[in-house]
Amino acid sequence: MNATFVQNNMALKTTQAIAGTSPSSVELTSLFGNYTRLRTRTEALVMTLSAEDMVVQSMPDASPIKWHLAHTTWFFETFLLAEHLPNYKVFNPDYGYLFNSYYETLGPRQPRAQRGLLSRPPLEDIMRYRHYVDEHIETLMQSVVLNGVENLIFLGLAHEEQHQELMLMDILHLFAQSPLKPAYDVKWPTVAKSNTDGFQRFEGGLVKIGGDGSAFTFDNELPRHSVWVHPFSISKRLVTNGEWLAFMVDGGYRLPEFWLSDGWTKICTEGWKAPMYWELGNDEKQEWQQMTLRGLEPIDVDAPVTHISYYEADAFAHWADARLPTEVEWETAAQADELEQVDNVVWQWTQSAYSPYSGYRTAPSAVGEYNGKFMSGQMVLRGGASVTPGGHTRPTYRNFFRPEQRWMFSGLRLARDLTMEESLLSFPNATDFTSSEFAIDVIAGLSADKKSLSPKYFYDEAGSDLFEEICLLDEYYPTRTETALLSQIAAEIACDIPVDAVLVEFGSGASDKTRLILDAAPHISVYIPIDISVDALNKATASMKKDYPKLLVEPLTHDFTNAIELPAIAQRQRKIGFFPGSTIGNFTKTEAIQFLCSVRQLLGDEALLIVGADMVKDEATLLAAYNDAADVTAQFNKNLLIRINRELDGDFDLESFDHQAEWNSEHARIEMYLISRSDQIVQAAGQSFAFKAGERLHTENSHKFTSESFMNLAAQAGWAVKREWVSAAPQFAVYSLAVSL
Ligand code: AVI
Repeated sequence: MNATFVQNNMALKTTQAIAGTSPSSVELTSLFGNYTRLRTRTEALVMTLSAEDMVVQSMPDASPIKWHLAHTTWFFETFLLAEHLPNYKVFNPDYGYLFNSYYETLGPRQPRAQRGLLSRPPLEDIMRYRHYVDEHIETLMQSVVLNGVENLIFLGLAHEEQHQELMLMDILHLFAQSPLKPAYDVKWPTVAKSNTDGFQRFEGGLVKIGGDGSAFTFDNELPRHSVWVHPFSISKRLVTNGEWLAFMVDGGYRLPEFWLSDGWTKICTEGWKAPMYWELGNDEKQEWQQMTLRGLEPIDVDAPVTHISYYEADAFAHWADARLPTEVEWETAAQADELEQVDNVVWQWTQSAYSPYSGYRTAPSAVGEYNGKFMSGQMVLRGGASVTPGGHTRPTYRNFFRPEQRWMFSGLRLARDLTMEESLLSFPNATDFTSSEFAIDVIAGLSADKKSLSPKYFYDEAGSDLFEEICLLDEYYPTRTETALLSQIAAEIACDIPVDAVLVEFGSGASDKTRLILDAAPHISVYIPIDISVDALNKATASMKKDYPKLLVEPLTHDFTNAIELPAIAQRQRKIGFFPGSTIGNFTKTEAIQFLCSVRQLLGDEALLIVGADMVKDEATLLAAYNDAADVTAQFNKNLLIRINRELDGDFDLESFDHQAEWNSEHARIEMYLISRSDQIVQAAGQSFAFKAGERLHTENSHKFTSESFMNLAAQAGWAVKREWVSAAPQFAVYSLAVSL
């Protein structure tokens, strides 16, 4: 890029709105100097163009150079002089209509696609307009008490920098249409290449992105906020023309498998076979050439690819077995100073849709139309291009274009997800906790607006013991009731179990209830208990082998909510799933459906699934079961904090939290919480979490069912209720489910 031609950012959307703090007095002193340099540079940029070059509009997205010169001036006149310079007289009242870009608040305007019809006013008038406004800006800067106005000046400067880049984009587009392929500037600098290879790994975690208000930013960069990022890797350099040629040779533009549906439609209707401005030479060699600001040139295979749409960038990433980075990943890597070719080569597509950051507010006046109203249907690009004025962008800068646009200087860098194993290998010095699933869930759950943690983390050794204790409590009826019901109905269940069946139990624990089934169905030949606790599995397996010597016991240590593969022995026999205890009630509805679907796939079409489910009943019985007099459930709940303290180096004070269980009748569930007794800051997994007095950490839902709600749930996962057995009050149900075909 040309270091003197700094300008950056861009687009149709050209203007983005203001934000940032007031400048210091030193900044104020140099402001007019900056203004003058910027305005002079704009005029220097067009010096070599003819008056004819400046009138033509080569496509609706582009604007004539003459219009850019006038519009940037209109911006200063409208938002600064007319508002803040007493007795200012507009240069020409017609210009408001001619040179307003898209400000609805300021009234009607020349249609965008017809800017090229403005042969009048002539160029001399536009130049006189520029200088008239420049003189008055000087007066304004000398006279006005700059309270607040300086931010508008910053915005006007940034806006004109954006138009400097747009002018170069539009000139290139115009000249590319000409059979003469004129050069804008034969000495226009070539872009920085990179010798670096490889991807930089990032462990992710909680990162902050966005402007911090200490310097000028557009409003769309605000507010600074926290985002959770999974481990990722990002290419240190940009994708090159050589790599793009390999993609083309490999059928990149011919094979739909790489393309988003809209992208495929676009390349088919437009007949795209290469990036914009690429054309095959018509000499014998028929090599690819590219129209540049220096004129038509052979493709430089080491230079970064440019002038590609989002669709093309995404297709290339698919072909390369990678993906585009999110804007959060891009900003994280750029802030860490780990990227090359960051802001002076090409804008880099991200996979992030251009939308407001949480807490974003537009300015109330017309200038508020700068950025916010474009937040639909566009994708974010990060970095900066060779045609971007130096110093215009920053790591938080968000450029945006529609996915099919490609006349801007756009390219890409690749990113990839890191698996948990890769991230552990990548970050051997990272604290243990930043890479464990437990740590990731704890950090995400405690950082959320409504704090929550998954109940699956209750069951460490102490938690499992406490749960066993709960099961023996007078108030906790489900275990006792289900066990009694199962012993009554075991013979009926056994009738539906074929000879040599395989019994697969999800979350088998001590396998106590299983014995009731095995005693009634001695023709079961294989038992596969699945549990995450190795200790529990070893103990249960040993005692089952002893008590059922003919039974083949094949334990599986696994989190049964994740994908499971059954041992070969289970392949050919009919399978009976067993999921007692109403653990299904601890899932969200989506998790329950997903679980039941994956069990159906695992066990096959011939399977039966025996499920225990607690029923809706009177509130007093339900509340007593989860608020027992001996406080065992409270200990069980708080054990989660003990586990965080032990495994994630936390400092939860157990005395500062209260256990609470309440009935949510709308969702038919008991909800368990830990409630902070005071305002406090807690450390865990290397992070700090603030709790307000009374703030709740949601630790468990225990859904209760009706016959109808359970049937509906099962049906949504492809199961039909074959039989239902319901105990006397307090009601607990056991269901036998068959695959609905
Ligand atoms: C394991 N699960 C079915 C129990 C329940 O009732 O939801 C867990 C439990 N939570 C508090 N007490 C028991």
